[in-house]
Amino acid sequence: MRQKFIIGNWKMHTNADEAGRLAKAIAVGVGTEDRVCVAVCPPFPYLALVASNLKGSSVALGAQNLYPEKEGAFTGEVSPTMLLDLGCKFVILGHSERRQKLGESNGFINQKVHVALDAGLNVILCVGETLEQREANQTTEVLEQQIILGLAALSADSLPRLSIAYEPIWAIGNTGHHATPEQAEMEHIVIRKRLAQMFGKPAQSVVIQYGGSVKPENAAALLSQPNVDGALIGGASLKAEQFLAIVQVAIKQTQTDVKAK
Ligand code: 13P
Repeated sequence: MRQKFIIGNWKMHTNADEAGRLAKAIAVGVGTEDRVCVAVCPPFPYLALVASNLKGSSVALGAQNLYPEKEGAFTGEVSPTMLLDLGCKFVILGHSERRQKLGESNGFINQKVHVALDAGLNVILCVGETLEQREANQTTEVLEQQIILGLAALSADSLPRLSIAYEPIWAIGNTGHHATPEQAEMEHIVIRKRLAQMFGKPAQSVVIQYGGSVKPENAAALLSQPNVDGALIGGASLKAEQFLAIVQVAIKQTQTDVKAK
């Protein structure tokens, strides 16, 4: 059984005071619960502060990006070694906002995936289609390309430290849309099949999270799908009570899954 992942992507939100308080509230709410994997990914400047406020809880720390070099003349960039130094366990790579607004290519994302995994970080690779691509029936092709190119030359040995986040771009933020549980399940199956073609049996163990307007109200329906193994949450991760409510939904679903086994 795959462990459920509930990960908060704070994007470019919060200030020091808010980040500290949000981390504390989530740490207190989650405590030492470990049936689900919970992590938060604050903006770079607050990683150290959030790390100290998460101490004693089982909430892990993640970053939203990295530069694919250990060190060097890369003004303004952050290396995997620095992230590890700050206590990060996870890094989000290939988020659609970086692909679209900062022009990140699959090739560049692939470099980051390799460097992050080699450094010892757990990678959350984001994939997802635009509304235009969905309407043109290109979703499968887009997802497969992002997986094939994003994970090029990766060995199956790295899979235990890799998870995928399926984030349909049309469902992210306040668009008024989220994928239906059936749509999410269908695309997660596409992703898992492609992973199986690339890596064989170990693909069955890869966690595939859904992201795009996940809220306490729709979390149960999404997480009850057999291939929806978690959620990557933007807006709702900025409110401790909403984020914690989704964590509770994941715990409940885990108990249901255990009984069904
Ligand atoms: P929202 O939950 O705000 O739609 O954001 C999803 C996302 O992009 C998480 O990475």
